[in-house]
Amino acid sequence: MLYITKNHLKPGMILSKDIVMYTNDNYSKLLLTKGQVLNNKFINKIEFNNIEGAYIEGEAFYDIDVDSYINENLVTKSLSQIKDVYLEFKMSTGKVGISSIKKLSSIVDSLIIELIYKENLSYNIIDFRNYDDYTYQHCLNVAILSISTGISLKLSEHKLHDLGMSGILHDIGKMLIPLEIINKPGKLTDEEFEIMKTHPQNAVNMLDGIVSNDILRGIESHHEKLDGTGYPYGRKSSNIHQYGKILTVCDVYDALTSDRSYRKSCFPSEVIEYIMGCADSHFDFNILNNFLKVIVAYPVGTFVELSNNKLAVVVKNNPENIMRPLVRIIKSDGTVGEDIDLLYDMDYMNTTIVNMGYDYDKDGFKEILKSTYDIKIKK
Ligand SMILES: [Fe+2]
Repeated sequence: MLYITKNHLKPGMILSKDIVMYTNDNYSKLLLTKGQVLNNKFINKIEFNNIEGAYIEGEAFYDIDVDSYINENLVTKSLSQIKDVYLEFKMSTGKVGISSIKKLSSIVDSLIIELIYKENLSYNIIDFRNYDDYTYQHCLNVAILSISTGISLKLSEHKLHDLGMSGILHDIGKMLIPLEIINKPGKLTDEEFEIMKTHPQNAVNMLDGIVSNDILRGIESHHEKLDGTGYPYGRKSSNIHQYGKILTVCDVYDALTSDRSYRKSCFPSEVIEYIMGCADSHFDFNILNNFLKVIVAYPVGTFVELSNNKLAVVVKNNPENIMRPLVRIIKSDGTVGEDIDLLYDMDYMNTTIVNMGYDYDKDGFKEILKSTYDIKIKK
């Protein structure tokens, strides 16, 4: 299968995966089913629902398969439970019942079970962008990324649970921050930023005695940086709780790869480069190393442009080096060429990925793709 962004879907393409929307009313909606032949009406439906793109069948890419990272029912249940607890926190000005926390705790246990038995942890960003409320999706994404990183770090199940709880609850304190500040499109004033900086402590004050001390320390330190330039306390490396160090990487990654009202999302590869540049100043090197084993820079089925000017499709990721996957070359006549392993194939050691194929309007991508679609994609 191939991943095609919404602007480039064409009538006649066949969906190779269900398209599911997670709505604000606490249920998942099957928007379109696998096997559906797209027409203009369906393409409009995808655009209308703000779905970034879809997996479609391609004869030359039949062997590329993309599994869901977390099963859809668990995602729905998790989002609904996160929303309930966050709203309960808001409505009761910070008081959350033990029973709500217990429900969240069982969600975290289910996420751990789902992730711990996976043969390969490779977080597919495309799976986690179909929800119409950013806050809850973000908290779930941070929990999933944190647990995955914790598994890579070989943390005990007990620690994975507390880490996941910290991830799911990390921004609950924002529910007590005025919406004008949370949703402000521009830069916050110094005064507004001071208010924003209270959100980790808001959560800790209100959840004290309801969740474990380690969960509280994780939430409290999710904006701290190793060099002491973070907030709320400006703590330095050894004084930052391990969970906080994990959450901060996952939080930054998910925030920067998401569309916000004030900026467009960045590509995973761009965010990875940024995060790697902050190793040891903001982020713990060992944690970052393990985080980089569970995410992918270039999701399977997406188009990439190589430094030798060739276009290719990502076939498989190499967890040993997420920047250098196995790719399938597309020739200039639109037919498919050889598979190249950018990590192990010595002939291609100097070849790098220079562009991601999400935005085909960029840098002449469009022309190459025009012929590729028409020739190789089943009609
Ligand atoms: Fe936060």
